[in-house]
Amino acid sequence: MENTHTSENNIQGRFFDTHAHYNDSAFDGDREEMIESCRAAGMKGAVNCGTDYGTSLECVALAEKHDFLYAAAGIHPEEALKYSPAAIDRIRELLKHPKVVAVGETGLDYYYEDSAPREIQKENFIANITLAKESGKPVIVHDREAHADTLEILKQEKVPEGRAVFHCYSGSAEMAKEIISHGWFFSFGGALTFKNARRAVEAAAAIPLELLMLETDCPYMAPVPLRGQRNTSANIPLVAEKLAEIKGLGVDKIFEATTANALLFFNIK
Ligand code: NI
Repeated sequence: MENTHTSENNIQGRFFDTHAHYNDSAFDGDREEMIESCRAAGMKGAVNCGTDYGTSLECVALAEKHDFLYAAAGIHPEEALKYSPAAIDRIRELLKHPKVVAVGETGLDYYYEDSAPREIQKENFIANITLAKESGKPVIVHDREAHADTLEILKQEKVPEGRAVFHCYSGSAEMAKEIISHGWFFSFGGALTFKNARRAVEAAAAIPLELLMLETDCPYMAPVPLRGQRNTSANIPLVAEKLAEIKGLGVDKIFEATTANALLFFNIK
């Protein structure tokens, strides 16, 4: 993997973005400058998450171009109609790439009724989890309005401790307790700063620091006061400040712990 930016290794990042989509067309006009500016703002690294085979390939290409970018490969619940044994075989091949550090994003999304039937979403989710278990890589879980079934499948498939993260966690503090008991991780992004985020704030308060990570889901989910704008990893400090306030800790402690958790979770040396 050629490193095309000689200055990359000189920047000491403070935070790790565990869920980004820099392959998204929202970055077509200024992708490289944007990634560089996030580095300058303190981004130590980021994992770009695929949503199907094509976007997973795009994420791999970005990871090949920048030594601090990594990729996740998988099939998103809204893309579950693309699920087939052949599609899973192609994702399996991508998982052999040294910079593909996770399976995802995958999971269940019951918010958009017309995206894919629930039974197909479940079949796709289980197939993605199976890939994660086979490869020993963690799974990035997208759970929207599907809390009970998501938890049920993760338990049924016996996903090992530390091998799943609930991205943009939106469940209750009560459900968080069960996830904690399995040793699975949580990541929080801009939604934690929203005015109506009472539930997420309560959950974040109940989760031990050892299981917390930061994310953007960029270009989506920009934190307050930038809500509605295009999101980037440079906005992660706004989320970290909110988490610091919730936990009663300094923001440096949040950066330090969540970055260490991310490197451990993705097995990045
Ligand atoms: Ni996402």
